[in-house]
Amino acid sequence: MNFQKTLIAPSILACDFSRLGTEVERLTAAGADWIHCDVMDGHFVDNISFGPAFVEAASRHTKQPLDVHLMIERPDHYFPRFSEFSSSISVHVEAPHDVKKTLTGIRQAGCLAGLALSPPTPISAIEPFLGHFDILLVMTVNPGFGGQAFMPEMLEKVQTGKEWREEKGLEFHIEVDGGVGPATAELSRQAGANVMVAGTSVFKAKNAATEIAALH
Ligand code: DX5
Ligand code: ZN
Repeated sequence: MNFQKTLIAPSILACDFSRLGTEVERLTAAGADWIHCDVMDGHFVDNISFGPAFVEAASRHTKQPLDVHLMIERPDHYFPRFSEFSSSISVHVEAPHDVKKTLTGIRQAGCLAGLALSPPTPISAIEPFLGHFDILLVMTVNPGFGGQAFMPEMLEKVQTGKEWREEKGLEFHIEVDGGVGPATAELSRQAGANVMVAGTSVFKAKNAATEIAALH
């Protein structure tokens, strides 16, 4: 696993849903490494975004890996509905499910398994699952909505994750999600993150390719 390379994962939550295919094609041409898909159920977070049919439709417009982020109550029940067309699926440690079993199931389905944590959750919450995930997803805003301000104090979690990875000889990506733009991406990279989720910054930019290059 190469976690030295910085990967940019634009979030389609910020795109024009009426032009999903065109938007995904535009991002792919602009240099997106992964396409981040934020799934919200109105229970785990106070917003409803889209489900498997939407993500499947997006998958038909790109060859880049789809990075699915499940902000939902029963990720163990729903992840199989995404696995066929996704390359990675992240689930929240705060959701009520058997976390180890879900992560194992995601891997068995042929996807990278991600473990996500929300801002109020301490990094210690993911320690029991070290070795069972391929992506540590550190939320840098409260999950639910795009366009919020980056919380720099979350970078401590990124740093700890990186230290644990080194100490224990593990391999996993460290992904930051929320409020990421060129400046906060650089701070995140310095702390040890290698996957940058960016919604607003990429979609609101005049030129997505220039913005993705700046994020790189
Ligand atoms: C928040 C989502 C993020 C977010 C990123 O719940 O998980 O992926 O939409 O969007 P920006 O870059 O606008 O914060
Ligand atoms: Zn996300």
